Amino acid sequence: MPSRALQLLASSGMETTRAETTRAETTRTETTRTLGRSGIRVSALGFGCWAIGGEWRTPDGQPLGWGRVDDEESVRAIRRALDLGVTFFDTADVYGTGHSERVLGRALGRRRADVVVATKWGNVFDERTRTLTGGDDSVAYVRRALTASLRRLGTDHVDLYQFHLGDADPERAARLRDTCEELVREGLIRAYAWSTDDPGRAAVFAKGPHCAAVQYAVNVLQDAPGMLRLCEEAGLAGVVRSPLAMGLLTGRRVPGRAPEAGDIRSRPPAWLKGFGDGSGADPEWFARVEALRDVLTDGGRTLAQGALAWLWARSPRTVPIPGFRSVAQAEENAGALEKGPLTAEQMAEVERILGRAERTSGRPPA
Ligand SMILES: NC(=O)c1ccc[n+]([C@@H]2O[C@H](COP(=O)([O-])OP(=O)(O)OC[C@H]3O[C@@H](n4cnc5c(N)ncnc54)[C@H](OP(=O)(O)O)[C@@H]3O)[C@@H](O)[C@H]2O)c1
Repeated sequence: MPSRALQLLASSGMETTRAETTRAETTRTETTRTLGRSGIRVSALGFGCWAIGGEWRTPDGQPLGWGRVDDEESVRAIRRALDLGVTFFDTADVYGTGHSERVLGRALGRRRADVVVATKWGNVFDERTRTLTGGDDSVAYVRRALTASLRRLGTDHVDLYQFHLGDADPERAARLRDTCEELVREGLIRAYAWSTDDPGRAAVFAKGPHCAAVQYAVNVLQDAPGMLRLCEEAGLAGVVRSPLAMGLLTGRRVPGRAPEAGDIRSRPPAWLKGFGDGSGADPEWFARVEALRDVLTDGGRTLAQGALAWLWARSPRTVPIPGFRSVAQAEENAGALEKGPLTAEQMAEVERILGRAERTSGRPPA
């Protein structure tokens, strides 16, 4: 076990080898997880590298990044995460139009061999103008995109290669799944996934023997029982994006305090929930976060740590990948590992506060 955090988790009586757990047993968790059927082991917490890509936008100026970032701070944060036992990093070619992959590759350096790197393809962009220009779901594009990602990351293979177009046509995606199988045979990737919130689409990829995961959004405010169920049935890991509801679940995003210009949350697209018109946290969402504060911070967790703990308790297949922009955030998020999942009682309390139907087990309801 590489870090003090993981050693503490092990010595706290939590098991390190269980593949399944039930709601009643959610005080026991893994310090690492296996990505589906792939056998690839990752820390139970990954780091999401969207924000560290810096600013980029659509051709008409809609921000797609999280505002300005300090690359040196990003590098320090990644190295701190490594020291704290984090072995899983999620990026995409399009984050910062290539910049996130470059920063991640630089930060990992020789430690690349010790970690699992996930990236994504499907979006087309102009690196020079830092602009998203479209999408490409063709078979020919996969290899072009992968070659470019390998160069930017400074590696000879991607561990988990993810299709980024969540609403793409499932029949065309089936051809991409077969292409991914070829890439596995050639040693260019180890496993693959679809990044989609649609269980039906995820099931198309799941038919491939080396499909290891699905990346989708779930957090304590936005449950996703259909996708959790699919992960169980298909034997996939759930790589959980937006586990902190894009910052709302840290409690530091409040109504009336607008994110800086250049931050996607300052001009939220229709799919981005919880930030209203861009003037700060939506009051209703903020009220729900505040209502959860006591239960999520019980036992000495911060709010962000409590939100991650909810995900681990929700399913043993979840691997949350919170974003970060600083060493302090990296330390706080990695620090959630040693505190483990919420207990069954805390989970029930969350459901009660949010007025959701009571579930009786950690398994997603049928
Ligand atoms: N496949 C896809 O289409 C897709 C879509 C979205 C995300 N993702 C992946 O999922 C990752 C995470 O999701 P996300 O970036 O949407 O949102 P998130 O993880 O829910 O929120 C991350 C943001 O919360 C804030 N934060 C994080 N830790 C904090 C802490 N300890 N204290 C205070 N604030 C903290 C930071 O923003 P501020 O400091 O600026 O508030 C950070 O950028 C991404 O980085 C990306 O890798 C994938």
